Amino acid sequence: MAKLAVFASGTGSNFAALADHIAGGPHTVTVLVTDRPEAPVTERARERGIPTFHARYRGRDRSEVEREIVAELERRGCDLIALAGFMRILTPALVDRFPQRIVNIHPSLLPNHPGKQAIEKSFDSGDTELGITIHIVDYGVDTGPIIVQQSFDRREAPDLEAARERIHALEHQWYPKVVHEVLDRLAQGETE
Ligand code: GRF
Repeated sequence: MAKLAVFASGTGSNFAALADHIAGGPHTVTVLVTDRPEAPVTERARERGIPTFHARYRGRDRSEVEREIVAELERRGCDLIALAGFMRILTPALVDRFPQRIVNIHPSLLPNHPGKQAIEKSFDSGDTELGITIHIVDYGVDTGPIIVQQSFDRREAPDLEAARERIHALEHQWYPKVVHEVLDRLAQGETE
């Protein structure tokens, strides 16, 4: 059994997809870490009986907040972090504390369109393919070794809304699957 922490700041559709998929297996989502407790993701955690940790960034040093986050994750014995729309950048200290154990999902085919508004930027670009990337987090923003990319032909999305829907559907299909596989590997490593 391995333990997952999900970091999220917004709607939480990926959080929900992860939590619901993982609930059917041996692993657990032990905590939601959010910088925005008023965001819908918090309600999704509450409905599922998953505790929320409020990371209080406002007016504070990132390192100080992260020390509190790390203490919480250690207390709960978390093995893996999945970022799911977490709108804060992690410092190298946190990344180093969980080497190769932080994954992220991004709604574009990286390295194209990192950062915010990736769906809009992808849609407005001349790219012939749109898609998603799941990757290991390193010190950069939406950089780090790619685990999986999934794409579709730009012409299959007649407008931005269609592109958005298609991208989210891919996210919800692939992120839980990939995170589950990483948790399996981590759990296996424990027993080896
Ligand atoms: C997703 O598109 C994800 O790829 C990006 O942030 C968005 C979060 O959406 N990193 P949600 O909160 O999971 O609905």
